[in-house]
Amino acid sequence: METLETQLEEKFDEFALIKKQRDSLNLYLGLVRNRDEETWEHSVRVGLKGTEVAGYTHIIEPKALFYSGLLHDVGKSLVDPKSLKKKKDFGPKDMEELRKHVMLGYKLLRGIHDFSARVLLFHHYFQENGYPRAIPSKEIDISKGTNVLILYCGRLLSIVDFYDAASNRKNEKFVPGATEIPDHEKVKESILKFNSDQKYLIEQLYEKGIF
Ligand SMILES: [Fe+2]
Ligand SMILES: [Fe+2]
Repeated sequence: METLETQLEEKFDEFALIKKQRDSLNLYLGLVRNRDEETWEHSVRVGLKGTEVAGYTHIIEPKALFYSGLLHDVGKSLVDPKSLKKKKDFGPKDMEELRKHVMLGYKLLRGIHDFSARVLLFHHYFQENGYPRAIPSKEIDISKGTNVLILYCGRLLSIVDFYDAASNRKNEKFVPGATEIPDHEKVKESILKFNSDQKYLIEQLYEKGIF
């Protein structure tokens, strides 16, 4: 199995990203990695899986979900590291602190990676008690068509994010009291339970072996 670093480099090559783009993505990813290795790994996996999911839908360009997947949790580099790294006794205060990562990420990316900045606003938006409650108004001109893509990209990102978190995290943040990584079937069960509006797509993704 190739390391995540290698897989990331290969994807950069596949998309023929110029040095400036690679440096920019690596810079943001580096902020995350300096804080927390696990969040970096999660971000890279979400970016890589996101390209596969987007490729399957034929609605979103794979590169769009690659970028926004890599960058979606960049705001976590600015939240209280104690809350970020907490594996046990994760309380409402920690949750409140972590929720800040969406707006922080948006602020870090706007004006630089505008599409990803807008997309990440929606990666926790669709879940129960989703956030942020109010989406900041657009600071740049976005066509109605692009806006639809941003919203759908955000919905796909939220599913890939959920899938990766459910498949790899064993801390209580995801399942209260959980000490083990849930098995494949359990992940599928919970992803379907919490994303029932996307049942058809999720089942297809499992069928195709993408999930
Ligand atoms: Fe997040
Ligand atoms: Fe995430």
